[in-house]
Amino acid sequence: MEVVIAPADQLAVLAAEAIDKLVRAKPDSVIGLATGSSPLKVYDELVRRHTQEGLSFAQAKAFMLDEYVGIAEDHPERYRNVIEKEIASRVDFAPDAVQGPDGNAEDLVAACADYERKIVDAGGVDLQILGIGTDGHIAFNEPGSSLASRTRIKTLTAQTREDNARFFGDDLAQVPQHCLTQGLATIMSAKHLVLLASGKGKAEAVHQLVEGPVSAMWPATVMQMHPHATVLVDDAAASRL
Ligand code: GLP
Repeated sequence: MEVVIAPADQLAVLAAEAIDKLVRAKPDSVIGLATGSSPLKVYDELVRRHTQEGLSFAQAKAFMLDEYVGIAEDHPERYRNVIEKEIASRVDFAPDAVQGPDGNAEDLVAACADYERKIVDAGGVDLQILGIGTDGHIAFNEPGSSLASRTRIKTLTAQTREDNARFFGDDLAQVPQHCLTQGLATIMSAKHLVLLASGKGKAEAVHQLVEGPVSAMWPATVMQMHPHATVLVDDAAASRL
């Protein structure tokens, strides 16, 4: 695992650079997109490179990590809508090139299996962008998640619902209780993992990720077993290393 400590604004440039290099070398790349605040500046930098430097996603595909269950289709915090707003609609992905798990499917179990199949059929994810929760979750794989897990339904922890309440007008009651999330083994199947973390609130999670024992109690630690993982952190997030 490669750990890079750099000023917060440079982290996004480093992540965008990795995607830029990949997509120019392999235009039909498969990119793994994450929600949360951590990747937002990466997306801004990709949009800049698209508009100013000719970076094109016309042949690329993208898969999202996770989605809330039972959230209104037009809710601004539905992850599908967040990804559309923050990146998909701002670059030149082909229609339907960006996919996410269907948290409103009638049969959620079938939707999870279907999503796994789609990722495999696309040839797997080449580069997966990741954030990390304060409790060490990646995607919505909360503490206790099996390291061998695949896309499935999960219950959000109280901690994560509190962390995400800020996106729901600070009203905890509005934060969904369940989600569909790629599993840890699904994420580990990506060829390159790029995780971003900034701020003091992430320091303990980053400490565990980099220096803790591999454990389902800190799900991100599974990344220690990945052959190509890059961890991009600012000084505050690195303060416990
Ligand atoms: C959410 C998302 C994760 C994200 C995490 C951290 O729970 N499901 O994919 O990594 O929050 O979010 P942030 O980047 O806003 O700190």
